[in-house]
Amino acid sequence: MPAPSAIAITPSTRHVSINVRDPGFYRNPLDAYADLHAECPSFFWEEQQQWYFAGYDQVNSLLRDRRFGRQILHVATREELGLPEPKPHLADFDRLEAYSLLELEPPAHTRLRTLVNRAFVSRQIEQLKPEIAALSHSLIDGFEKDGHVELLKAYAEIVPVTVIARMLGVPVDMAPKLLDWSHRMVKMYVFNPSLETEHDANQASAEFADYLKGIIDWKRKNPADDLLTHMITTEKDGERLSDDELISTAVLLLNAGHEATVHQLGNAVRTLLETGTSAKDVFSSDAATERTIEESMRYAAPLHIFQRYALSDIELEDGISLKKGDKIGLLLGAANVDPKKFSDPLTFRPDRNEGAHVSFGAGLHFCIGAPLARLELKLSLPILFERLPGLRLTSEPQIKDSYHFHGLERLELEW
Ligand code: HEM
Repeated sequence: MPAPSAIAITPSTRHVSINVRDPGFYRNPLDAYADLHAECPSFFWEEQQQWYFAGYDQVNSLLRDRRFGRQILHVATREELGLPEPKPHLADFDRLEAYSLLELEPPAHTRLRTLVNRAFVSRQIEQLKPEIAALSHSLIDGFEKDGHVELLKAYAEIVPVTVIARMLGVPVDMAPKLLDWSHRMVKMYVFNPSLETEHDANQASAEFADYLKGIIDWKRKNPADDLLTHMITTEKDGERLSDDELISTAVLLLNAGHEATVHQLGNAVRTLLETGTSAKDVFSSDAATERTIEESMRYAAPLHIFQRYALSDIELEDGISLKKGDKIGLLLGAANVDPKKFSDPLTFRPDRNEGAHVSFGAGLHFCIGAPLARLELKLSLPILFERLPGLRLTSEPQIKDSYHFHGLERLELEW
């Protein structure tokens, strides 16, 4: 059970109070989700002052519901909605968001997504197999003899950032800088970021955009067989991507390309070790490995929450009335443990076969990187356990005080 201060539910009014900074909550949100499923799967979150949804069917259908969008300013003005003016000290951050696939709705979204999508379809991604396997092995070569490692820094972080940098055609020796910019930017995706976080994210956005502008100019003169060159040269309906679109898309891919995968890898290793799961069994075949990866994504998802705007006034079936411009929150992490969908949902069962989790989202914005993330996990997890039999936790993993990125601070292992 969560600590009493972590979650308070009033079923009669469907009001819920959750302090996301309470360790009783962020260390193990699944327990709080179990209470929500039992008592109040759609609820008004008092601290956030908006409606949230935890049920699998509802989250899955709201993600696909075209009456909602990730953006609202394509159908209404700030004045109309009473939204505050943009903050001048966030101008560089906002400029990246303005052209980001993740923040666009059709038709702008469709045009950009179509252009990028080709590089991410499964058969294209499959070709990266030897490269990802070789990278995983070479990283393990570097720390195998030590007998211990902090896995996030030495492995989980490096695999995804290297792969996405290579795909885009950004020099891999920039990885530490890419990680720094990205970490500073994604701090904005928490509830109520501080002024300091805002200034820092803006500074990181300006530096990141500046760096990419240089790379794009260079690639225009020196085209190569990489995604950035492809995005620069591809035309759709006689139009090319503008510099702002190219930069935003590259930043999004570089950030999204590693932030979630790092934590998914860490969370999966932690889960396997804490549950005493036999790596030999769960990675005994391709099919078993795939099932194990999907179950670890259901049970230990890295991203628990996404928001949508109501694009018009909407009456939901369960009596919730929304006004155009209202935001709603969709709890992907909670949907993944809905007992109406998954039996014994708080148990990690690598052979589970009960349908899809929603950790990659659903609908228009479904994760474009899903085939890549799956392949990275499918290779780098079994290789780690194969190479280091006897892998065990050195200390209790420290969970990040960050509800939006459910992951570990550090993962100390020995063998
Ligand atoms: C385990 C790893 C990952 C998880 C759990 C994850 C999860 C998600 C989720 C939930 C969304 C949808 C957000 C929404 O509906 O509001 C999303 C979108 C997206 N993801 Fe991922 N992701 C992962 C890895 C990746 C990778 C490796 C890449 C890139 C190369 C990537 C690129 C993107 C992009 C570009 C979008 C926006 C798509 C759109 O708006 O059309 N992701 N991801």
